[in-house]
Amino acid sequence: SPSDPDLVERARAAKARLGDRVFVLGHHYQRDEVIEFADVTGDSFKLAREAAARPDAEYIVFCGVHFMAESADILTSDRQQVVLPDLAAGCSMADMATAEQVAECWDVLTEAGVAERTVPVSYMNSSADIKAFTGRHGGTICTSSNARRALDWAFEQAGEDGKVLFLPDQHLGRNTAVRDMGMSLEDCVVYNPHKPNGGLTAEQLRDARMILWRGHCSVHGRFSLDSVNEVRARIPGVNVLVHPECKHEVVAAADHVGSTEYIINTLDAAPAGSKWAIGTELNLVRRLANRYAPEGKEIVFLDRTVCFCSTMNRIDLPHLVWALESLADGKVVNRIQVDPETEKFAKVALERMLALP
Ligand code: 13P
Ligand code: SF4
Repeated sequence: SPSDPDLVERARAAKARLGDRVFVLGHHYQRDEVIEFADVTGDSFKLAREAAARPDAEYIVFCGVHFMAESADILTSDRQQVVLPDLAAGCSMADMATAEQVAECWDVLTEAGVAERTVPVSYMNSSADIKAFTGRHGGTICTSSNARRALDWAFEQAGEDGKVLFLPDQHLGRNTAVRDMGMSLEDCVVYNPHKPNGGLTAEQLRDARMILWRGHCSVHGRFSLDSVNEVRARIPGVNVLVHPECKHEVVAAADHVGSTEYIINTLDAAPAGSKWAIGTELNLVRRLANRYAPEGKEIVFLDRTVCFCSTMNRIDLPHLVWALESLADGKVVNRIQVDPETEKFAKVALERMLALP
């Protein structure tokens, strides 16, 4: 639906009043009405780098979810302030691993005698506390665009008979290990934080190469093998392109797998007349379908029953206008600020990611 013209005008005016003092970052899953005001759009890796590369911006307005804004705060200087236009924009996956649960897991690994051979790799989609845990234990952060490189690095660090504890998205961890690195499904075990000892025996932990946290994305988790089979039957010649947060069976049945930025680049390079079914969040798929329709590329949603990421969608034009006008009036609202002790170790882990080859 078209944006309220009054709000569009107010957003423009507030941005103009702020000038170079503000930099607006927009994740690809944001609404069109918000993306319109982003100075840069990207996947979570690109946005982390962009935030770190803007030392002159006094304010970073992050149109995305809480863990992304936290990461931006960690990677920017103390002088810069990061604003999340709606504090309720969280991520259900990030909430699936708490600091207490992860500390308990590390105790279980220690008890089983595997902790010293285990390197944690945490997906960007995690709280600053989990990133700090990762930094403290010699690990790195990864995103969906560098998970393979992060795992290669981690196994190198872990040494002979080494293991990776992958947090919190079991699917990204499994998909990367099995699809990209040739491990078997049996090399992966799932640690369930709601069961004693994660539901695993010491022997299972010792035999595993990948210890996957039992977390998932509620949006991508809804794509199924049936969705893939159905779309292939309905659209002959269709290319199935999915995000690696999808279940393993979906990723195994897809033609291409990658981050949001990869999805966009792939469609950009696709020939006219090609047909695509995309397994990721709906705001992005709709935008791409509209963008590439004039070039004769047919782009459909992989499963018509799956929809938006509800927390990404919380950032809407009214919230953005409120944040920008408040800043223009000299009032910082919804600041995301990670405490210094957490920041110190979380930064170690994030910088390891930024330094990956
Ligand atoms: P990207 O890193 O691909 O942008 O993914 C972020 C995310 O939250 C996907 O659900
Ligand atoms: Fe989190 Fe999934 Fe939404 Fe991404 S799409 S922000 S992983 S809930």
